[in-house]
Amino acid sequence: MNAATSTTDQTPASGDIPLLSRHLREATARVHEEAEHSTFMADLLGGRSGREAFVALTEQLWFVYSALEETVDARADHPLLAPLHDPRLRRRGALERDLRSLRGDAWRAGLAARSATGEYARRIRDCADEPARLVAHHYTRYLGDLSGGQVIPPLLARHYGLTDGVDFYRFDGIEKTKPYKDAYRAALDALPLDATGREVAAAEAVEAFRLNTAMFEELGRAA
Ligand code: HEM
Repeated sequence: MNAATSTTDQTPASGDIPLLSRHLREATARVHEEAEHSTFMADLLGGRSGREAFVALTEQLWFVYSALEETVDARADHPLLAPLHDPRLRRRGALERDLRSLRGDAWRAGLAARSATGEYARRIRDCADEPARLVAHHYTRYLGDLSGGQVIPPLLARHYGLTDGVDFYRFDGIEKTKPYKDAYRAALDALPLDATGREVAAAEAVEAFRLNTAMFEELGRAA
């Protein structure tokens, strides 16, 4: 058995690695700040770019969530993923509705993953056989969408008058994000992961944030 998926030793003190939810938050604090302050996101949310930038982001997210949801769905019964797996989180269908609204019925035509997005999607698919790493990708995107992601639609409406094509940011069936995120963190902490597994997950989360930042940088260069 891979050390990262060992089911022994869940004690927080083990190897001085904190419980998973805290370890993930602390390990990614710096890269979160980098992602948050990327020029592309800061300009988009600060009203200094335009509708095209938002459409370009939505397009790239479709490739990311296609990889994430195909990979997670295939491993949904694994003990490290089953407690986190929740159909209410799925974003791919919402992204497709958004793209139809933003690009029209032929939204798929000519749509391509940019290089950084392709790298991100490959990295997610490469985690298929290492569920501790897949947990990190699940955490990075969905907990982010349920956190900072929730402030995005009002800003898009205010700056660009965009009120359609933003289903991605709305989680039908999750009425209140705070209790949901609390339960998600409790589920993370109850996962059968030892200290090594928690380290593996945190290192992968740092990489996931970096891949998001690289995707934003590439989108920023294209703008
Ligand atoms: C525009 C940029 C962003 C803003 C304004 C933002 C804002 C925030 C805020 C305010 C929180 C804390 C919410 C809370 O404690 O309930 C948060 C948490 C989080 N964000 Fe972001 N964020 C941004 C970008 C990102 C990106 C690009 C990612 C990753 C793809 C991300 C992933 C996360 C995660 C995983 C959390 C949960 C942290 C934890 O408590 O474990 N964020 N974000």
